[in-house]
Amino acid sequence: VTADAEWAAEIRRLADERDAVLLAHNYQLPEIQDVADHTGDSLALSRIAAASSAATIVFCGVHFMAETAKILGPDKTVLIPDERAGCSLADSIDAEQLRSWKAEHPGAVVVSYVNTTAEVKAETDICCTSSNAVDVVRSIPAEREVLFCPDQFLGAHVRRETGRENLHVWAGECHVHAGINGPELTERAEANPEADLFIHPECGCATSALYLAGDGTLPEERVKILSTGGMLDAARSTGASSVLVATEVGMLHQLRSAAPEIDFRAVNERASCRYMKMITPAALLRCLREGADEVDVPAEVAERARASVERMVSIGR
Ligand code: 13P
Ligand code: SF4
Repeated sequence: VTADAEWAAEIRRLADERDAVLLAHNYQLPEIQDVADHTGDSLALSRIAAASSAATIVFCGVHFMAETAKILGPDKTVLIPDERAGCSLADSIDAEQLRSWKAEHPGAVVVSYVNTTAEVKAETDICCTSSNAVDVVRSIPAEREVLFCPDQFLGAHVRRETGRENLHVWAGECHVHAGINGPELTERAEANPEADLFIHPECGCATSALYLAGDGTLPEERVKILSTGGMLDAARSTGASSVLVATEVGMLHQLRSAAPEIDFRAVNERASCRYMKMITPAALLRCLREGADEVDVPAEVAERARASVERMVSIGR
């Protein structure tokens, strides 16, 4: 028995002992994804957390994801293997900033990406993820102004898809996705003219890829703007033999398992999220042994945030 197999067996034993369900985001390390009960994108994992009957949820992901699970299941124990696993995008707006922005646009509907703190969610009308952002905005009457935060690239994508001019976008970004730039993507795409391009809407290069598809530099039918869950669905149905992937590199593990015959390559191999990678095998073992780190959201904040998160899990697929 290898050390890895022993570790995995111990994780599963401790999880059973605690009546815990292990959830892992698509950006987690391969060994964490493989030991988890469920691996998926942020929307799928929120839905699983909401529906789970387990007493404990162990969230292998970043802090706002664990907070979202706690908001949806206040009576459950929610653990994260390392509470320092933050998110640069969630840090790009706080509740005070959102309140000032709302004061400038009275009556506007606030749509916040799930990558926000619980305090920001408490100031929000509807949360969304990259899988359902377009559907969420479409669910809002056309004449209402919309404030979309915090990701400017996802906001630009939603504005493009809905054609909505009364949608105002906050200027936040994720340092990992913003770093995957247009020139790099163009160079890779031109060197691999047969490849599909799977691009996460948080990427700085998403807008330039669509311009290049529009002017014929890139083949339009190959450019796909997708959430991480959407990438997995597309991988199962594309006829392409190679795919260039513009998102955090952890995604390659699920893609390669879903479609082993396809050659998946990262557009930028350095696109690794240091927060996601804080969830190490040792951290997960400690978490299950010690019941730490526990994630709590003050009841009053959770109460105000819950409606916006419940709307998120009920809209879109
Ligand atoms: P999705 O899981 O919605 O694809 O989001 C990606 C992300 O950056 C989460 O941190
Ligand atoms: Fe946040 Fe970006 Fe890391 Fe996702 S990849 S957790 S958005 S910093």
